[in-house]
Amino acid sequence: MRILLTGGAGFIGSRVAGKLVEDGHEVRVVDALVHGAPPVFPEEVEFVHGDLRDPDTVDRVLGGVELVSHHAAMVGRGKEILDGPRYVGCNDLGTANLLAAMTRRDIGQLVLASSVVIYGDSRYDCPEHARVRPSRRTRADMDAGRYEPRCPECGAELVASAVREDDPLDPPRNVYAVTKLAQEYLVGAWANETGAAAVALRYHNVYGPGIPYDSPYSGVAATFRSAVRAGRAPRVFEDGGPTRDFVHVSDVVSANLAALRWTGAGMRAFNVASGEPRTIGQLATALTEAAGTPAPVVTGEYRPGDVRHIVASADRLRAELSWRPEIGFHAGMREFATTEMRYAS
Ligand SMILES: NC(=O)c1ccc[n+]([C@@H]2O[C@H](COP(=O)([O-])OP(=O)(O)OC[C@H]3O[C@@H](n4cnc5c(N)ncnc54)[C@H](O)[C@@H]3O)[C@@H](O)[C@H]2O)c1
Repeated sequence: MRILLTGGAGFIGSRVAGKLVEDGHEVRVVDALVHGAPPVFPEEVEFVHGDLRDPDTVDRVLGGVELVSHHAAMVGRGKEILDGPRYVGCNDLGTANLLAAMTRRDIGQLVLASSVVIYGDSRYDCPEHARVRPSRRTRADMDAGRYEPRCPECGAELVASAVREDDPLDPPRNVYAVTKLAQEYLVGAWANETGAAAVALRYHNVYGPGIPYDSPYSGVAATFRSAVRAGRAPRVFEDGGPTRDFVHVSDVVSANLAALRWTGAGMRAFNVASGEPRTIGQLATALTEAAGTPAPVVTGEYRPGDVRHIVASADRLRAELSWRPEIGFHAGMREFATTEMRYAS
């Protein structure tokens, strides 16, 4: 199949490119290289240095393409609203340009690199009031060390569980999440309107070889890995109890291959998660133990807008596309503790 891979020079995209070629696909990568020099691609990959915000570039790179794997995006929390114009431009204008050009060229298959950030929090149940949406955590709560979300009715601590694809999407809490949610809405509208087939892969926290060095744009895995690399103790926020699911980049790549098998019409969303949620404290400890570097320090710091728990179930991806993650938490962390890293964002 002739595939256009946007963002194919990035952490995840570059791995997807290699695997697509290995599986016999013809791959053209388009990337604006926001992190600098591109990686070394297999020689079969055609690389175009271009920006999705430019409609002429988008139209040009779609020539002869049958399917688009859309990974290009500005990622992470960054400088929040100060980064708004760039995030909205790259993530949403870029996606709109892509969908318009695909429609003009009658290209009807797309895989979107989406994110679990669009859910906001995990699912929560109150012992008294069943399923509830928690109140947002206030600065006063966090300053007092009250980190767990509480029931908006009775104030009781809530019990978190995994979100599923049909759960409501929370009003997003940061600029990145807003733009990722808008991407899915744009793709959904396009697929419904044109009868195209779109898969939204909602990645959890991705880690593995080639992860970027720590920067204001990094997630917690890159931040802790950078600390370990520098021989520093990772600084663990809150009480170390926020829960995430850390999924290895090679399992994300295999989810992308599985997504090519989806043949429905409209948009279908799939969570991509290891199924082994861990706290950020456990992540820091696993990494420092594997690397033999100083133990983590729990600091009680916090970032307003961070969610306490976000964990997603990948049962749909397993059931409908026969995907199985292959790298468990401890094996993945042993590798990650010493793996190479890439560009500073
Ligand atoms: N890394 C994660 O944990 C994670 C989690 C959930 C979702 N995702 C999604 O996966 C995708 C890839 O993420 P990543 O971690 O590999 O990030 P990355 O920053 O390494 O890669 C993104 C690539 O997109 C390119 N890009 C950005 N704006 C562009 C534009 N306007 N035109 C062309 N190229 C542009 C960048 O140059 C970069 O190479 C993103 O869509 C991201 O939102 C990542």
